[in-house]
Amino acid sequence: MNAFLVHSGSPLTGDVQVSGAKNSALKLAAAALLAEGRSIISNVPEIADMDAMGAVLEHLGVGVSRPQPGVMALDVPAELGAATPHELVKRLRASIVVLGPLLARNSYARVAMPGGCNLGSRNIDLHLAGLAQLGAEVTYGADYVEARARRLRGADIELDFASVGATENIMLAAVLAEGVTHLRNAAREPEIADLAAFLNSMGARIEGAGGSEVTVRGVTELRPTEHRVVGDRIEAGTYAVAAAITRGVVTLRGVRPDHLRLALEKLRAAGVVVDEGEDSLAIDARDGLRAVDVVTLPYPGFPTDLQAPLLALLTQAGGTSMVTENVYDGRFSVVAELERMGAEIELQGHHALVRGPRALRGTRVRAPDLRAGAALVLAGLVAEGVTEVDEAQHVDRGYSDFAGRLRALGADVRRVTVPADEALAVSAPVAR
Ligand code: EPU
Repeated sequence: MNAFLVHSGSPLTGDVQVSGAKNSALKLAAAALLAEGRSIISNVPEIADMDAMGAVLEHLGVGVSRPQPGVMALDVPAELGAATPHELVKRLRASIVVLGPLLARNSYARVAMPGGCNLGSRNIDLHLAGLAQLGAEVTYGADYVEARARRLRGADIELDFASVGATENIMLAAVLAEGVTHLRNAAREPEIADLAAFLNSMGARIEGAGGSEVTVRGVTELRPTEHRVVGDRIEAGTYAVAAAITRGVVTLRGVRPDHLRLALEKLRAAGVVVDEGEDSLAIDARDGLRAVDVVTLPYPGFPTDLQAPLLALLTQAGGTSMVTENVYDGRFSVVAELERMGAEIELQGHHALVRGPRALRGTRVRAPDLRAGAALVLAGLVAEGVTEVDEAQHVDRGYSDFAGRLRALGADVRRVTVPADEALAVSAPVAR
């Protein structure tokens, strides 16, 4: 059993060096498939998802090495494998983005249906429709997708929903298609602009990425490249909430404040003082917290990936906050766990009403997914007594040394692995 043991303590203080963005680095690694030779990615986060993507790429014939911490070297062969197996793909939903590059390089790809966090229905219909518009013949079964195309051709594609993954898969295939692709209602996340910068440094011709209209002019060949991953705005936002929930004073380095515009606005509205540098943020929450209403939306809206940490924070804010989740239909699983700690949260469809402040008490809870797991650790920082957050491996997927970095800010958090039948500090059973 993997768990975090969290003791409440004093306000967090100090500096955090933010890692490279998980949701960019994973896609850059897949993009490297597009060119034979050695691509080098730096500022790569040391997280389990990156290892899982490395394993998928190795299965396809890529030599994956870590010449030094934070650097991933990918040696891409002339002949790539065409299929990714279920055992690897189920560990990582993002592995669906190998579909576009494999199709572009091999004319054929077979990818197992992706796994990753269970956040309700997570479809890939827009990925597949986009690739079909580029000329691929797409077939699928319950646990795999197959795509083939002798030659991909540029197309005009309008997404029904600004899906991050669909935007990426379409860009990744269109770079080697014949002719021009116009993609409308593209997702605008900073990680997509980072992917386009990576692809352009390989010789691709992409304009407009980071905006909702993207133009891709197909080229016949790409070359390997070197690139530094953009800072992780979600990791930064999580540490900002950690500072805020403990009424601490913390500086975050290696993140662009403009990538967190709305999240910072909401923190300010909640009473947190936020000072922005060029690639740093100073958080000061000594003045107390008040309720705010928040609605998650695709970028530049408030990120769904910060919704669970924010819920934890709002349990400590005076007044009633309403948090509305618009991106996923299964992303309030943290609520039941926070309630076990004493939070008062009422769910009404895709709205959560949080009544605060409520004194939280440490107990045994379970991380239902990556961001919810992190949120429970943050709640534990202010809960009386000891909080045990089980299934910590979800958090390892996206946060590099979460416990160690919180400890560096003065928190009392330990990551432990113990046999399932061995008692931890908190003995209350997890009721399910
Ligand atoms: N959707 C469809 N059809 C599609 C694609 C998406 O209906 O073909 C729906 C999904 O079911 C979901 C919503 O659209 O309800 C959002 O999906 P999107 O494709 O935008 O997200 P994603 O590419 O699957 C990435 C991040 C997520 C993040 C979302 C939204 C990666 C690896 N994952 O997922 O990150 O929440 O964008 O910003 O980039 C996380 O890091 O914890 C995480 C879940």
